[in-house]
Amino acid sequence: MSDLPASAGFQHAELEWDENGQPQSRQYGDVYFSRVSGIEETSHVFLAQNDLASRFAALQPGERLVIGETGFGTGLNFLCAWQLFERHAPAGARLHFVSVEKHPLTHDDLARALALWPQLDELAQRLLAQYVAVNPGFQQFRLGDGRVSLTLLVGDALECLAKLDARIDAWFLDGFAPAKNPQMWQPELFAQMARLSAPGATFGTFTSAGFVRRGLGAVGFEVQRVPGWGPKREILRGHFAGQPATTEKPWYARPNHRPAQRQALVIGAGLA
Ligand SMILES: C[S@@+](CC[C@H](N)C(=O)[O-])C[C@H]1O[C@@H](n2cnc3c(N)ncnc32)[C@H](O)[C@@H]1O
Repeated sequence: MSDLPASAGFQHAELEWDENGQPQSRQYGDVYFSRVSGIEETSHVFLAQNDLASRFAALQPGERLVIGETGFGTGLNFLCAWQLFERHAPAGARLHFVSVEKHPLTHDDLARALALWPQLDELAQRLLAQYVAVNPGFQQFRLGDGRVSLTLLVGDALECLAKLDARIDAWFLDGFAPAKNPQMWQPELFAQMARLSAPGATFGTFTSAGFVRRGLGAVGFEVQRVPGWGPKREILRGHFAGQPATTEKPWYARPNHRPAQRQALVIGAGLA
């Protein structure tokens, strides 16, 4: 059990730092990212398996891409996705990153972890400037001059995703190894991913565990095993081939049409 105080309904991540300054979770006994190179692992497992460079480049002004992640952790995946978006997306396109985290890092720990990546420093400082009062529930951060938004869902993935209304285009299925964190890798998680997926939504995950492959397949994902990065022989990628979620109350259903550009005319704006 933690010797840290629970902060308003949740427990911060309890970290140990190895001799190279890399964080490891005491709660789960697992690493936050590869000890060899976290950035290269993120790039291969999450960015490349979701084809994000080309998808960002293909966005039209006014269009956005929504990424869903399980386990915000140190924010490394988020910063790498943001950096890739800045490099490839046209002006006027937007990125929305939705990430769920049960044990947020404290501000000091986040700063210490992100200091490992000088190449991400500029973006890290912008995130840290807003990462000041993390509370349970849904929290919005507006970054990248308003082009990038981060919604942090502070709480358990199964509970938070069940309350979320979103259309996720690309999933980063992270979260410590299934063997170390079996509570998260449940059929309910895969069911929520299917419910929240846009048609054709993609995913990448570092694990190749058979029950993850079968669980995702059972809810409508087509799953492929592909070569992993570093010591990992295989990882999983795939896309959602199932039916979009239906609602018992069709009048609440979201229209499928997603216009590239939307305009509003305000008549008599007054103080607005
Ligand atoms: C491997 S780390 C994620 C690394 C992260 N994506 C990054 O870029 O640093 C796994 C994260 O999942 C979180 N986590 C574990 N179980 C969870 C659960 N049931 N609900 C939400 N988050 C969970 C952990 O607290 C941890 O931060």
